Amino acid sequence: MSEPLGIERLSGPELDPYLPELARLRIRVFRDYPYLYEGSAEYEETYLKTYANVAESVMVLVWDRDRAVGASSGLPLEAGPPAVTGPFIARGHDPRRIFYYGESVLLPDYRGLGLGKRFFDEREAHVRALGRFEIACFCAVERPADHPRRPADYAPLDAFWNRRGFVKHPELRATFSWRDLGETAESPKPMVFWLKSLV
Ligand SMILES: CC(C)(COP(=O)(O)OP(=O)(O)OC[C@H]1O[C@@H](n2cnc3c(N)ncnc32)[C@H](O)[C@@H]1OP(=O)(O)O)[C@@H](O)C(=O)NCCC(=O)NCCS
Repeated sequence: MSEPLGIERLSGPELDPYLPELARLRIRVFRDYPYLYEGSAEYEETYLKTYANVAESVMVLVWDRDRAVGASSGLPLEAGPPAVTGPFIARGHDPRRIFYYGESVLLPDYRGLGLGKRFFDEREAHVRALGRFEIACFCAVERPADHPRRPADYAPLDAFWNRRGFVKHPELRATFSWRDLGETAESPKPMVFWLKSLV
């Protein structure tokens, strides 16, 4: 890390050239607790293509010279699958006014430098520039406190998210399925949404 890191904010089809890099990063970082994601190139291709296909999506990339070392994504909620729009519609929210943050992934050597905060700032700047969103949201997986793979030194991100202005909404829940490390098939994971008002 002798040279400054590069930060780039891209949208829609600008992502296309970077989809393999993004898949590699997600699979690497999400192997760790609490995601424990086994990772599949097939799933990644479909998932990431959603972002490339939506003109108003955002992807913040962190570059160490020519290597992507971090990424953070988002897209209008209404462009997401029913699993993410459904809970909002059921609670009377208008999905057209909500922007959904996908994920933030940073290789371990690059953590603690303020890039996690930068990811939120960059995405919020993107959302505000679009001018029609009232709420930013994301969802996080809920693992039992005694999960056997929870590392002894695991620090939850809840306080970090609270400091970024997000509030946990236990009434807004979804279920995503993926294959955990060591599982032979996908299993459902309970997810809970966090919201920040932008107005
Ligand atoms: C979430 C993630 C992107 C944050 O990245 P980061 O660049 O380390 O974050 P920052 O440097 O901006 O610091 C974030 C917070 O963590 C704390 N922190 C910083 N360095 C830390 C360290 N070495 N150990 C523990 N906490 C640390 C900071 O106190 C800060 O909180 P603050 O609000 O008090 O300032 C990164 O940890 C990551 O990729 N984690 C794995 C994937 C993940 O869980 N993603 C989030 C859900 S999709």
